[in-house]
Amino acid sequence: MSDISFDETIAPYYESWFETPAGKQAARREKALLQRLLATLGPPGTLLEIGCGTGYFSRWLAELGWQVTGLDLSLSMLWQARSRGELPLVLGDALALPCPDNSFEVVAIITALEFFRDAPAALEQAWRVARRGLLLGVLNRLGPLAWLRRVQGKLRPNIYSEARFYSPGELHSLVEESGGPGLDIHWDTTVWPRWLPLEGGPLPWGAFIGLAARDG
Ligand SMILES: C[S@@+](CC[C@H](N)C(=O)[O-])C[C@H]1O[C@@H](n2cnc3c(N)ncnc32)[C@H](O)[C@@H]1O
Repeated sequence: MSDISFDETIAPYYESWFETPAGKQAARREKALLQRLLATLGPPGTLLEIGCGTGYFSRWLAELGWQVTGLDLSLSMLWQARSRGELPLVLGDALALPCPDNSFEVVAIITALEFFRDAPAALEQAWRVARRGLLLGVLNRLGPLAWLRRVQGKLRPNIYSEARFYSPGELHSLVEESGGPGLDIHWDTTVWPRWLPLEGGPLPWGAFIGLAARDG
Protein backbone atom coordinates (compact mmCIF):
# COMPACT_ATOMS: atom_id res chain seq x y z
CA MET A 1 0.00 0.00 0.00
CA SER A 2 1.39 3.41 -0.90
CA ASP A 3 1.39 6.38 1.48
CA ILE A 4 -1.62 8.66 1.38
CA SER A 5 -0.52 12.19 1.72
CA PHE A 6 -2.74 14.49 3.75
CA ASP A 7 -1.02 17.48 2.25
CA GLU A 8 -1.89 21.14 1.73
CA THR A 9 -4.43 20.23 -0.98
CA ILE A 10 -6.49 18.38 1.67
CA ALA A 11 -5.64 19.80 5.10
CA PRO A 12 -7.41 23.20 4.90
CA TYR A 13 -10.67 21.56 3.76
CA TYR A 14 -10.55 18.41 5.91
CA GLU A 15 -12.97 19.64 8.60
CA SER A 16 -15.53 21.02 6.12
CA TRP A 17 -17.21 17.56 6.14
CA PHE A 18 -17.98 17.98 9.85
CA GLU A 19 -19.81 21.23 9.06
CA THR A 20 -22.32 19.62 6.65
CA PRO A 21 -25.65 18.34 8.10
CA ALA A 22 -24.64 14.71 7.42
CA GLY A 23 -21.16 15.28 8.84
CA LYS A 24 -22.53 16.91 11.99
CA GLN A 25 -24.90 14.02 12.56
CA ALA A 26 -22.19 11.41 11.95
CA ALA A 27 -19.77 13.20 14.27
CA ARG A 28 -22.39 13.40 17.02
CA ARG A 29 -22.97 9.65 16.81
CA GLU A 30 -19.29 8.79 16.57
CA LYS A 31 -18.53 10.92 19.63
CA ALA A 32 -21.38 9.35 21.63
CA LEU A 33 -20.03 5.88 20.86
CA LEU A 34 -16.40 6.82 21.55
CA GLN A 35 -17.36 8.48 24.85
CA ARG A 36 -19.23 5.39 25.99
CA LEU A 37 -16.25 3.17 25.13
CA LEU A 38 -13.71 5.56 26.62
CA ALA A 39 -15.52 5.27 29.96
CA THR A 40 -14.37 1.62 30.08
CA LEU A 41 -10.76 2.87 30.16
CA GLY A 42 -11.14 4.80 33.41
CA PRO A 43 -11.31 8.46 34.36
CA PRO A 44 -9.67 11.19 32.25
CA GLY A 45 -5.87 11.26 32.27
CA THR A 46 -3.18 11.63 29.63
CA LEU A 47 -4.12 10.62 26.09
CA LEU A 48 -2.15 10.46 22.85
CA GLU A 49 -4.17 10.71 19.63
CA ILE A 50 -2.13 9.12 16.83
CA GLY A 51 -3.11 10.43 13.39
CA CYS A 52 -4.81 13.42 15.01
CA GLY A 53 -4.98 15.29 11.69
CA THR A 54 -6.46 18.75 12.17
CA GLY A 55 -7.21 17.90 15.81
CA TYR A 56 -10.99 17.62 15.42
CA PHE A 57 -11.32 14.70 17.89
CA SER A 58 -8.33 15.80 20.00
CA ARG A 59 -10.10 19.08 20.83
CA TRP A 60 -13.27 17.20 21.73
CA LEU A 61 -11.37 14.74 23.95
CA ALA A 62 -9.72 17.68 25.72
CA GLU A 63 -13.20 19.14 26.35
CA LEU A 64 -14.06 15.85 28.07
CA GLY A 65 -11.19 16.46 30.49
CA TRP A 66 -8.39 14.40 28.92
CA GLN A 67 -4.86 15.85 28.71
CA VAL A 68 -4.45 15.32 24.99
CA THR A 69 -1.34 15.29 22.84
CA GLY A 70 -1.85 15.00 19.08
CA LEU A 71 0.61 13.22 16.81
CA ASP A 72 0.57 13.12 13.02
CA LEU A 73 2.88 12.46 10.09
CA SER A 74 1.52 15.38 8.07
CA LEU A 75 2.86 18.84 8.70
CA SER A 76 -0.05 20.32 6.73
CA MET A 77 -2.61 18.63 9.00
CA LEU A 78 -0.68 19.65 12.14
CA TRP A 79 -0.51 23.20 10.85
CA GLN A 80 -4.31 23.22 10.68
CA ALA A 81 -4.49 21.67 14.16
CA ARG A 82 -2.24 24.40 15.49
CA SER A 83 -4.46 27.13 14.00
CA ARG A 84 -7.57 25.57 15.57
CA GLY A 85 -6.42 24.83 19.12
CA GLU A 86 -3.80 25.01 21.83
CA LEU A 87 -3.05 21.32 22.34
CA PRO A 88 0.50 19.91 22.35
CA LEU A 89 1.26 18.51 18.91
CA VAL A 90 4.01 16.17 17.75
CA LEU A 91 5.22 15.48 14.22
CA GLY A 92 5.81 11.75 14.18
CA ASP A 93 5.15 8.37 12.61
CA ALA A 94 2.68 5.89 14.09
CA LEU A 95 5.10 3.15 13.10
CA ALA A 96 7.96 4.57 15.19
CA LEU A 97 6.40 6.63 17.96
CA PRO A 98 8.82 9.15 19.46
CA CYS A 99 7.43 8.42 22.95
CA PRO A 100 8.79 6.39 25.87
CA ASP A 101 7.08 3.14 26.92
CA ASN A 102 3.93 3.63 29.04
CA SER A 103 4.01 7.41 28.63
CA PHE A 104 0.21 7.95 28.21
CA GLU A 105 -2.78 6.43 30.02
CA VAL A 106 -4.71 5.96 26.77
CA VAL A 107 -3.78 5.96 23.09
CA ALA A 108 -6.56 6.87 20.63
CA ILE A 109 -6.52 6.24 16.88
CA ILE A 110 -9.62 7.67 15.18
CA THR A 111 -10.21 7.24 11.43
CA ALA A 112 -6.48 6.90 10.96
CA LEU A 113 -5.60 3.18 11.26
CA GLU A 114 -7.13 2.73 7.79
CA PHE A 115 -4.42 4.99 6.36
CA PHE A 116 -1.32 3.59 8.10
CA ARG A 117 1.14 1.64 5.94
CA ASP A 118 1.33 -1.15 8.53
CA ALA A 119 -1.63 -1.23 10.93
CA PRO A 120 -0.40 -4.19 13.03
CA ALA A 121 2.95 -2.47 13.62
CA ALA A 122 1.15 0.77 14.54
CA LEU A 123 -1.01 -1.07 17.08
CA GLU A 124 2.08 -2.66 18.64
CA GLN A 125 3.54 0.81 19.01
CA ALA A 126 0.28 2.05 20.54
CA TRP A 127 0.31 -0.75 23.15
CA ARG A 128 3.93 0.05 23.97
CA VAL A 129 3.06 3.63 24.81
CA ALA A 130 -0.34 3.08 26.52
CA ARG A 131 -0.55 2.34 30.25
CA ARG A 132 -4.29 1.60 30.36
CA GLY A 133 -5.50 0.80 26.88
CA LEU A 134 -6.53 1.83 23.38
CA LEU A 135 -9.52 3.64 21.91
CA LEU A 136 -10.10 3.06 18.20
CA GLY A 137 -12.54 4.56 15.69
CA VAL A 138 -12.44 2.87 12.29
CA LEU A 139 -14.53 2.96 9.11
CA ASN A 140 -16.47 -0.28 8.81
CA ARG A 141 -15.83 -2.40 5.71
CA LEU A 142 -19.31 -3.95 6.15
CA GLY A 143 -21.12 -0.59 6.31
CA PRO A 144 -22.95 0.69 3.22
CA LEU A 145 -21.16 4.03 3.53
CA ALA A 146 -17.79 2.29 3.21
CA TRP A 147 -18.95 0.81 -0.09
CA LEU A 148 -19.89 4.27 -1.31
CA ARG A 149 -16.50 5.71 -0.26
CA ARG A 150 -14.65 2.86 -1.97
CA VAL A 151 -16.58 3.29 -5.21
CA GLN A 152 -15.97 7.05 -5.09
CA GLY A 153 -12.28 6.37 -4.46
CA LYS A 154 -12.10 4.10 -7.51
CA LEU A 155 -13.90 6.54 -9.80
CA ARG A 156 -11.88 9.53 -8.75
CA PRO A 157 -8.71 9.17 -6.64
CA ASN A 158 -9.18 10.60 -3.16
CA ILE A 159 -7.96 9.87 0.37
CA TYR A 160 -10.06 6.70 0.48
CA SER A 161 -8.59 5.18 -2.70
CA GLU A 162 -5.70 3.57 -0.80
CA ALA A 163 -7.40 3.20 2.59
CA ARG A 164 -7.80 -0.23 4.19
CA PHE A 165 -11.27 -0.70 5.70
CA TYR A 166 -11.92 -3.26 8.47
CA SER A 167 -14.93 -5.24 9.60
CA PRO A 168 -15.58 -5.41 13.36
CA GLY A 169 -14.27 -9.00 13.40
CA GLU A 170 -11.07 -8.07 11.55
CA LEU A 171 -10.48 -5.13 13.87
CA HIS A 172 -11.08 -7.29 16.93
CA SER A 173 -8.52 -9.88 15.72
CA LEU A 174 -5.99 -7.19 14.84
CA VAL A 175 -6.24 -5.69 18.33
CA GLU A 176 -6.02 -9.10 20.01
CA GLU A 177 -2.98 -10.08 17.96
CA SER A 178 -1.17 -6.85 18.79
CA GLY A 179 -2.11 -6.65 22.48
CA GLY A 180 -1.68 -10.25 23.53
CA PRO A 181 -4.09 -12.65 25.23
CA GLY A 182 -6.62 -11.77 27.92
CA LEU A 183 -7.66 -8.33 26.69
CA ASP A 184 -10.94 -6.78 27.80
CA ILE A 185 -12.45 -5.55 24.50
CA HIS A 186 -15.67 -3.57 23.97
CA TRP A 187 -16.90 -2.52 20.55
CA ASP A 188 -20.00 -1.34 18.74
CA THR A 189 -20.90 0.39 15.48
CA THR A 190 -22.86 3.52 14.67
CA VAL A 191 -23.68 5.91 11.79
CA TRP A 192 -26.41 4.21 9.84
CA PRO A 193 -27.68 5.28 6.43
CA ARG A 194 -30.43 7.83 7.02
CA TRP A 195 -33.05 5.57 5.44
CA LEU A 196 -32.51 2.90 8.10
CA PRO A 197 -34.46 3.40 11.36
CA LEU A 198 -31.53 2.10 13.44
CA GLU A 199 -29.19 3.63 15.94
CA GLY A 200 -26.25 1.77 17.44
CA GLY A 201 -27.17 -1.60 18.89
CA PRO A 202 -25.35 -4.86 18.45
CA LEU A 203 -25.53 -4.91 14.63
CA PRO A 204 -22.15 -4.88 12.87
CA TRP A 205 -23.05 -2.72 9.85
CA GLY A 206 -22.87 0.86 11.06
CA ALA A 207 -20.36 2.91 9.07
CA PHE A 208 -18.14 3.58 12.07
CA ILE A 209 -16.69 1.01 14.49
CA GLY A 210 -15.67 2.11 17.97
CA LEU A 211 -13.49 -0.23 20.03
CA ALA A 212 -11.86 0.08 23.44
CA ALA A 213 -9.32 -2.47 24.67
CA ARG A 214 -7.42 -2.85 27.92
CA ASP A 215 -5.63 -5.61 29.78
CA GLY A 216 -8.25 -7.91 31.29
C1 LIG B 1 -8.46 10.64 7.92
S1 LIG B 1 -7.28 11.53 8.86
C2 LIG B 1 -7.99 11.46 10.49
C3 LIG B 1 -7.67 12.66 11.33
C4 LIG B 1 -8.40 12.71 12.68
N1 LIG B 1 -8.09 11.57 13.52
C5 LIG B 1 -9.90 12.81 12.46
O1 LIG B 1 -10.59 11.79 12.60
O2 LIG B 1 -10.37 13.90 12.14
C6 LIG B 1 -5.94 10.38 8.97
C7 LIG B 1 -4.67 11.01 9.54
O3 LIG B 1 -3.69 9.98 9.73
C8 LIG B 1 -2.42 10.56 9.45
N2 LIG B 1 -1.43 9.52 9.19
C9 LIG B 1 -1.36 8.68 8.12
N3 LIG B 1 -0.30 7.87 8.25
C10 LIG B 1 0.29 8.18 9.45
C11 LIG B 1 1.41 7.68 10.16
N4 LIG B 1 2.15 6.67 9.68
N5 LIG B 1 1.74 8.24 11.35
C12 LIG B 1 0.99 9.25 11.86
N6 LIG B 1 -0.09 9.77 11.23
C13 LIG B 1 -0.43 9.25 10.05
C14 LIG B 1 -2.69 11.45 8.25
O4 LIG B 1 -1.67 12.41 8.06
C15 LIG B 1 -4.04 12.05 8.62
O5 LIG B 1 -3.90 13.27 9.30
